[in-house]
Amino acid sequence: MGEIRIGALVSGGGTNLQAIIDACEGGRINGRMVFVGSDNPGAHGLARGEKHNIPTFVVDYKDIARRYDEGAEGLVPENFNVNEILKKQTLFSVSEDPARLTRFFDIRAAAEGALIRAMNPYPFDLLVLAGFMRTLSPYFIDKTNPAPLDPRIMNIHPALLPAFPGTDGYGDTYRYGCRVGGCTVHFVDYGEDSGAIIGQKAYEITPEDTIETIKEKGIKLEWELYVDCIRLFAEGKLKMTRKTYALQKGRKVQRTVVEIV
Ligand code: GAR
Repeated sequence: MGEIRIGALVSGGGTNLQAIIDACEGGRINGRMVFVGSDNPGAHGLARGEKHNIPTFVVDYKDIARRYDEGAEGLVPENFNVNEILKKQTLFSVSEDPARLTRFFDIRAAAEGALIRAMNPYPFDLLVLAGFMRTLSPYFIDKTNPAPLDPRIMNIHPALLPAFPGTDGYGDTYRYGCRVGGCTVHFVDYGEDSGAIIGQKAYEITPEDTIETIKEKGIKLEWELYVDCIRLFAEGKLKMTRKTYALQKGRKVQRTVVEIV
């Protein structure tokens, strides 16, 4: 594979984004950042992109939700079918209030349709979520990554998945009383932080640690891990493999995992 084109989505400070930009510019990743997008107009990650002359854009999710609730017309894309998405999604239980689910996925599709339009001028090989604090719905994933066995959306999560998915990986790890914490880079599927794992790094948690010190330990590992995983992707070394494992009593479990080849 030659130089890969990387798009990034951020919601906040963008220190992972910075690590990736620096690794591209320093030749540690054979890649080039082609856009930085955000759901949050105030994300400092946008300024980091601008500083490196990378095109940036914002799709303001909060504003879209507000306009939807005010009854604005034409927000939800015409090719969006909420029933199709409700069948595919794994973020919510089926017992959830259908009206609430429809509102959630309508708003997601409105925002994600706008994201897709904003990304359109910048073709990419890999989309990295670098502190992007919104789940991506099947509407976005199917359009952006139509072949699940050829994944091209990556996320970094501040916990050792599958423990502590969600929005506060460090806090959840700390409050649980874990002796070890860590971070995970994975491909994105329909679930919340549930896609195939590419890499993990771990740190020790001692009785002296606080939430602040574990964040300090963890974020430094995140920067290294994300760059390592993107480098493997750029080198064509990540392969999805379907594995079948035999369990007791003749039962079997199947999993799709990432093999490093
Ligand atoms: C990082 O800790 C990242 O793992 C986390 O947000 C932070 C962003 O920091 N992401 C998630 O929690 C996603 N569920 P950054 O903006 O400085 O890269």
